[in-house]
Amino acid sequence: MKEQLSQTLRQTVADLIPGAPLGWSDLPESGGLRGFFLDQEAALRPLPADKVDLVMREPPFWTLLWPSGELLCRRLASHGQLVQGKTVLDFGCGCGLVAVAAKVAGAARVWAVDCDPLAILASRLTALENRVSVDVAENADQIDAVDLLLLADFLYDQTHMPLFYSLQARANEVLVVDSRLTELDLEGYSYLGTSLGHAVPDLDPHREFGRLRFWYRGSRGAEWKGFLGIPTPVAQGVHEC
Ligand SMILES: C[S@@+](CC[C@H](N)C(=O)[O-])C[C@H]1O[C@@H](n2cnc3c(N)ncnc32)[C@H](O)[C@@H]1O
Repeated sequence: MKEQLSQTLRQTVADLIPGAPLGWSDLPESGGLRGFFLDQEAALRPLPADKVDLVMREPPFWTLLWPSGELLCRRLASHGQLVQGKTVLDFGCGCGLVAVAAKVAGAARVWAVDCDPLAILASRLTALENRVSVDVAENADQIDAVDLLLLADFLYDQTHMPLFYSLQARANEVLVVDSRLTELDLEGYSYLGTSLGHAVPDLDPHREFGRLRFWYRGSRGAEWKGFLGIPTPVAQGVHEC
């Protein structure tokens, strides 16, 4: 099964971007997670002119872990208690590694949803490689309610807003992590702050998109701030001895 999935994905990328291999990489600081990513050198090479349109039309987002996904995988490895026992939906899951990280961290059930059928194959493969079970689907139609909705580098595309409204209504908690979105002014959502992340492979050595922003809706804002590594300011006038 794993061999068949990896072969299909390798062939797809070889047809799309000649000379750009996919392979397994260990994700640093993630407790040993492994992802099936585009080769770092190939990822930075300019696309052949005759392939640009094709890649733009059907971008293979699943060939990398986006900056928000990278940060979530890292933090889930060290602060997994926030997802333990929870039902989690990773919507726009791409390669599926965030969903896998949530399951490894102790989530009771994890959905990995992406409209790209190749992302679905990649997520299945990633779950198999990391030896966890994740439910994958091309849409959220069959998902009634979840404890936590994760949107990692999904909401920067404003055309996703109608879908977002429908998804958030089914979740007790929502965490939006984004490397491109700068504002999310919605009732019930708190801006938590920023932290740093990078894609794997790293497509952004100058860190144009390295600063991630977080928004949260739910009752555990302080815990999520700790999860994300955002310092909590000490109240003015209060001095600890
Ligand atoms: C920028 S990628 C982020 C992938 C992943 N969350 C990460 O952090 O690595 C956005 C993903 O959202 C998916 N997507 C876009 N529109 C979608 C939709 N309407 N339903 C489900 N997935 C969608 C894309 O196929 C893509 O895999």
